[in-house]
Amino acid sequence: MANAAVSAGDSGGVTRREFLYYIWGASIALFAAESAGLLVWFLIPKFREGEFGGTFTLPIDELPEVNAEPVNKPDGRFWLVNLDTTNPNGSERMYQASDESAPIQGVAAIYKVCTHLGCIYSWIPVNNRFECPCHGSKYRLDGRRIESPAPRTLDRFKVQALNEDQTQVLAESDLVNDFYQPVVLPTGTAFLRVDTGSKKTGPSQTLICSFTGSCP
Ligand code: FES
Repeated sequence: MANAAVSAGDSGGVTRREFLYYIWGASIALFAAESAGLLVWFLIPKFREGEFGGTFTLPIDELPEVNAEPVNKPDGRFWLVNLDTTNPNGSERMYQASDESAPIQGVAAIYKVCTHLGCIYSWIPVNNRFECPCHGSKYRLDGRRIESPAPRTLDRFKVQALNEDQTQVLAESDLVNDFYQPVVLPTGTAFLRVDTGSKKTGPSQTLICSFTGSCP
């Protein structure tokens, strides 16, 4: 019998002890993988629809008219704007600056926090612009700086145009230089989806007041 056992080991077979080691090792590896997966699942933030950090789906009739005053969405912490610099309606609010070679058209969702030191700015109807109460920064309807001390354009969230049953994305904000551009809504758009978990930092552009020589 002893000779038979030696010859089985010599032939490369797995002993009972080795087999138990393998099972034990595999169990440990499986447990570690499951624990890591659970940890990642808990660490990745999860947001519900309609909660800041998640998505907001709005019927198209909540969109403001072209170049009209922005619509305030406090739960999502954004302003919804509808821009068209080729449209004379509301041109006192939205206009093309001297260094902008192409018209600005489409829908954007603008984060409600000032890019200077984080105060909450407001839309001031009588002045047709956003103004920050803390240090006086001013922004055009699309969020571009009119006056400092804000260092850059207001941040934006990703916007998608959805069809009637919300199953199809018809268009979404393009990224240019890592900043969301206004999205032009295709025919058939019935809903807008704003993703407040997808924010892009506004660029530093020349102050608009410097073109008119009206900077304070
Ligand atoms: S925080 Fe808005 S201007 Fe300073």
